[in-house]
Amino acid sequence: MSELNNIALKILENGKGILAADESTGTMTKRLEKVNIPSTPENRLLFRETLFSASSMTECIGGVILYDETIKQKSINKHSIPELISKMGSTPGIKVDTGAKVLANSPDEKITEGLDDLRDRLKEYYKLGARFTKWRGVYNISKEYPSKLAIHSNAHALARYSALVQECNMVPIVEPEVLMDGNHSAQDCLIKTSEVIKKCFDELILHKVDLTGVILKPNMILAGTNSNKKITGKEVAKLTIQCLKNSVPSDVPGIAFLSGGQTEVEATENLDLINKENNTKFIMSYSYGRALQQSALKYWSKDINDIEGTQKVFNHRAKMNTLAAQSKWSKELEN
Ligand code: 13P
Repeated sequence: MSELNNIALKILENGKGILAADESTGTMTKRLEKVNIPSTPENRLLFRETLFSASSMTECIGGVILYDETIKQKSINKHSIPELISKMGSTPGIKVDTGAKVLANSPDEKITEGLDDLRDRLKEYYKLGARFTKWRGVYNISKEYPSKLAIHSNAHALARYSALVQECNMVPIVEPEVLMDGNHSAQDCLIKTSEVIKKCFDELILHKVDLTGVILKPNMILAGTNSNKKITGKEVAKLTIQCLKNSVPSDVPGIAFLSGGQTEVEATENLDLINKENNTKFIMSYSYGRALQQSALKYWSKDINDIEGTQKVFNHRAKMNTLAAQSKWSKELEN
């Protein structure tokens, strides 16, 4: 087994998942202002450090995706944040793309940037303690989108990113996110997501990426937010597995879903149903941002010094999702 394969398997072992705490300062500012907390570097760190020192970091969270600001901050005990995460038994990771920009010649679509100085930034992040990375491509669904151009150019960028990350001995998380926004059906989501993921792996293979050292971070197959044809959790699970079975090469060790605007319990329930149906050899776990942090952030905003109370809320969500990744979750456990 390669070193990269070992890292990927360790992050996702025994139902563990990933905490996506890599919101850019702009996104984090919006989240904090929504709960009336000023977005200062100190407050951003305080909330994140509260989560990173919670007991579920040892039991449930195999990896944490950080943002550039956070990986360079120091904890209350003067440890670096990657040191704190490692000390808790988890693995530090880092978001390395620099965001999605308008795609030239298809202005309603996006291309993710950040390749130019990536090799040097990766070396720095490795020295800071990162052992895995994330890059997110984003696609919207409509009759004509995602276009061949968006599918091809984002897959190309994801492949070049992955090759550079592995060269630096880190595991790339490959995140092609097909957004929930719109009135498309789940069937449309299935067709477009499958096309997007297949193209990503075509490019990864072309770029000689070691697929045993990759984690895929896809969306689940859902009807659009404004669709009037919502599907049940069981159907979500069935279509999601169908999509992944037909588009992900079997060398890939693990899949960690994004939550993408689902409610916390919805994201947990769907993950549980996916694992109850899972007839593939892929580990299916979570890499949630909002679905792991929403309640904790709300609770914390009422008293930012209530570390213990905030951790309790976070621990519950982490525990529920790890049970879902083991297909052992049920609604009753939520109370
Ligand atoms: P959500 O789970 O909130 O969709 O965030 C995951 C993520 O990392 C998006 O890039």
